[in-house]
Amino acid sequence: MAKKRTPTPDDEDNRLIGRGAADDEQQIELSLRPQYLREYIGQKKVKDNLRIFIKAALARGESLDHVLLNGPPGLGKTTLSQIVAREMAAKIHVTAGPVIEKPGDLAAMLTNLEEGDVLFIDEIHRLHPAIEEILYPAMEDFELDLIIGQGPSARSVKLDLPRFTLIGATTRAGLITAPLRGRFGINFHLDFYPIEDLQIIVLRSADILGVEIDDAGANAIARRSRGTPRIVNRLLRRVRDFAEVEYEGKITVEVAEDALNRMEVDRFGLDEVDRKMLTTIIEKFGGGPVGVSTISAAIQEEKDAIEEIYEPYLIQIGFINRTPRGRVVMPAAYQHLGINLPGAPNQLSDQPGLF
Ligand code: ADE
Repeated sequence: MAKKRTPTPDDEDNRLIGRGAADDEQQIELSLRPQYLREYIGQKKVKDNLRIFIKAALARGESLDHVLLNGPPGLGKTTLSQIVAREMAAKIHVTAGPVIEKPGDLAAMLTNLEEGDVLFIDEIHRLHPAIEEILYPAMEDFELDLIIGQGPSARSVKLDLPRFTLIGATTRAGLITAPLRGRFGINFHLDFYPIEDLQIIVLRSADILGVEIDDAGANAIARRSRGTPRIVNRLLRRVRDFAEVEYEGKITVEVAEDALNRMEVDRFGLDEVDRKMLTTIIEKFGGGPVGVSTISAAIQEEKDAIEEIYEPYLIQIGFINRTPRGRVVMPAAYQHLGINLPGAPNQLSDQPGLF
């Protein structure tokens, strides 16, 4: 369970969104993460294969081969890496592509590793190319090639590294260069979770948090969580707030739906940004095709956020299609938003309603 922090004056000024609140939320999120493979819900194919690879490596007394995990944010790539390290009884060192600025930063991390350790690099597709090159011999031959000095007197020195396991996580598998991808012996794709799995995650998290909830309440939260455990856990915490303040504490389907409607999370789990993106493409660009940069400028959201966070789920549920000429809004999205398809007879009287 998360420990309560002593409030600071900062918290008093800015209670809801202050750093303190975010810290506590992060602590709670960490407490909900499964620690072992047997506690990890869903992603059965990944889990089954991983279990075999870990068992085989342990039996041979070797470190696990390098692992590449790809998939949308919030599906458990970091959690899975921590589980791998724990199952291998290995120490994990955590970093991310964008924070490794100089070749020396990576060299320092590599020389700090001990035999069997796991090095986790999040957002590995954002590694600088010059830094990525250091990884090639490190991954393949457990060697670090260092250039000492500059100009004509520069010398290359090879250092032996301990055998370690690199786990790379990415939301953009397409941006991983071929030489890097080729050096991972294990490559997994994480899919959005089905509602049944998310419902089990809600029940598990509610149990850890000590929240009373029934199956229908858990199902209602699962349905609106965009196939994403991180979102399911966040919505559970917010629904619990409504349950405690406005109801008697227990999360039923009525409490969950009321809370989710009031937070404007609709029946497909779409939020304001998703709806703005869809309605903008429909209203300003005739439903598409339109390029991501144009969408980004029109709705004032980062292009990367559109491609990595919003779009994958909209594509998955068939609301958007990616074509060579840009993004196109699909009929299911028009229906959900209650907007007539161009050229279709007026159907607004039959509008389904978002919430
Ligand atoms: N919490 C977040 N992701 C989870 C998962 N896949 N299984 C169990 N609990 C989780």
